[in-house]
Amino acid sequence: MQWKSLLAAALLSAIGLAAQEVHGVTPADLERGLQLFLNNCAGCHGPDGDLVPDVNLASGKFRRAQGDNDLRGIVLRGIPGTAMPPGNYTPEQAGVLVAYLRSLASSGAPKRTGPPGDASLGKAIVETKGQCLQCHRIGRAGSIAGPDLTGIGGMRRGADLEQSLINPDAEIRPDNLTVVAVAKDGKKITGRLMNMDTYTLQILDGSSLKLRTLKKDDLREYEVLKKSPMPNFRDKLSEQEISDVVSYLVSLKERI
Ligand code: HEC
Ligand code: HEC
Repeated sequence: MQWKSLLAAALLSAIGLAAQEVHGVTPADLERGLQLFLNNCAGCHGPDGDLVPDVNLASGKFRRAQGDNDLRGIVLRGIPGTAMPPGNYTPEQAGVLVAYLRSLASSGAPKRTGPPGDASLGKAIVETKGQCLQCHRIGRAGSIAGPDLTGIGGMRRGADLEQSLINPDAEIRPDNLTVVAVAKDGKKITGRLMNMDTYTLQILDGSSLKLRTLKKDDLREYEVLKKSPMPNFRDKLSEQEISDVVSYLVSLKERI
């Protein structure tokens, strides 16, 4: 699917710099490693790798590992007698996980740029001035028009959350795409793309908030947006307010 490769290309250019530091590892490897890490490891280690007490995967030093073989062993066999679990990964998956750990250790977790934030002020901004709940759900409040932010702090790094606010077009995740379709009668339908196959699109209709299946044959055209429908908050909130919002989002670790 072409839009997927476009998206991949955008992701790759974003992490291209980090990749050059690791010999023989492509940006695509690192991106797969990051996704595996966020899905399998961040629940304990945190998206930035620093949540397990006395372990900081981004510090450049591993207590229990010297080379790649040690890291691979830890990823596959866990650390017996500790909470670090074994994992059932293919050699390829273990390889990209180790490459990601290496890049994290050599360049550190990406840093947020703003001043330190206050999560409780951020919560108030999200609920009032930022009007984030018009599009997002947090816990039981808000709308499902945009991605659910409940637990987002356990899945995304602080620097990525900051990017979402001040540069929303920079990276749109494959599961957060918006599609604009025009039916044969000229009616426009906008919604979040949930699924796509050869003949149909499944979207969450932005106006009814219902799941709809559109047959491609019934459409005059459709387009997957490369720009985010989310407003850019760089001009709408101050630097301090952005940091407060990011601190609040980082604190949302529970998946309710
Ligand atoms: C259930 C929680 C949990 C999960 C899931 C988890 N870890 Fe761990 N990990 C730990 C704990 C706890 C330690 C510290 C063990 C000790 O040394 O006491 C640890 C230690 C490590 C270490 C050694 C750190 C050092 O300083 O030597 C590495 C590397 C590591 N984990 C990588 C991973 C990777 C990669 C994943 C995902 C594939 C992962 N962990 C998933 C809990 C977890
Ligand atoms: C007009 C609707 C709208 C508003 C208002 C809005 N967003 Fe979004 N947001 C979206 C959509 C749609 C996406 C998915 C596309 C993307 O990633 O940019 C998104 C993506 C995000 C993401 C990335 C999610 C991920 O999975 O990585 C974060 C974080 C986020 N928004 C936070 C906020 C916060 C905080 C506010 C308020 C300050 C806000 N949004 C206001 C529509 C909105």
